[in-house]
Amino acid sequence: MKNKRLLGIIVALALVVGGSLVYSSLTKQETKTETANKTAKVGVLQFVSHPSLDLIYQGIQDGLAEEGYKGDQVKIDFMNSEGDQSKVATMSKQLVANGNDVVVGIATPAAQGLASATKDLPVIMAAITDPIGANLVQNLEKPGGNITGVSDHNPAEQQVELIKTLTPDVKTVGALYSSSEDNSKSQVEEFKAYAEKAGLKVETFAVPSTNEIASTVNVMTGKVDAIWVPIDNTIASAFSTVVSSNQTAKKPIYPSATAMVEAGGLASVVVDQHDLGVATGKMIAKVLKGEKPADTPVNVFSTGKSVINKKVAQELGITIPESVLKEAGQVIE
Ligand code: TRP
Repeated sequence: MKNKRLLGIIVALALVVGGSLVYSSLTKQETKTETANKTAKVGVLQFVSHPSLDLIYQGIQDGLAEEGYKGDQVKIDFMNSEGDQSKVATMSKQLVANGNDVVVGIATPAAQGLASATKDLPVIMAAITDPIGANLVQNLEKPGGNITGVSDHNPAEQQVELIKTLTPDVKTVGALYSSSEDNSKSQVEEFKAYAEKAGLKVETFAVPSTNEIASTVNVMTGKVDAIWVPIDNTIASAFSTVVSSNQTAKKPIYPSATAMVEAGGLASVVVDQHDLGVATGKMIAKVLKGEKPADTPVNVFSTGKSVINKKVAQELGITIPESVLKEAGQVIE
């Protein structure tokens, strides 16, 4: 009887001690896996939908995945402001308030919206043509604040060379761009400087919104020999209007992105959009791992590959020299 009671106490004690040991080791494991698996939260604001920005967003996801941020390791809080400035402002505030670890702006107006929504949370610029002119950073090498990222500098000098090679009779080029995009202003100035050095005349045509593209192209085609378009979101998002408004005049169009050459432009020298996105994704990963935007230099892409639309060339009666075709990064048949 006595022995039985003692045995009972021993068993009960063993159960309590063993149980608590198992319990504490379980909870320890739980907290361990919790820190290892902490899901990174990345807020993304895309300014507008057009094929180039869509490719950049795809690249961002691929770049993050390459660094291990895929599946349940990352949660992407994605918003698209559809080219609407008031949406840029509200969505920027929302992305900051949502508890994201880092926020990413695809295209200049989106990055500017995020920059004014937070001075502490890291902001990563995805494909921003002129980070200094857009007032996002003051120094590309040492950004200093909470903003860094990837810049797509337009290879304007090579574009001028291509215009001279493919269409040597062109004397006046019309630059078609949006007056509301800070990324376009500096590109137009730079292109103008190179073009004038090469003996071309440049006339500028700035549109306030997509609504004025058709009428502006109609005016332009009466005045210029060719149309040049910078890396501009407004024009890219309504590029089919540029092409259709030029249907009777048939002036060669030199845009600044592959998607616009595919959609009816003649040729260009361009920076690869998916590559820009991948580089951005990798930079986001670095910042998630603790690197400070202040000490992370802006990654500038400035070398381009030529892309030629052979179909458009044929329609315009332009023969593309063999040497140009051989060197081209992409030929659209
Ligand atoms: N660089 C543009 C900006 O700063 C965004 C952009 C990236 C873009 N790729 C493009 C615009 C292609 C037009 C076409 O806003």
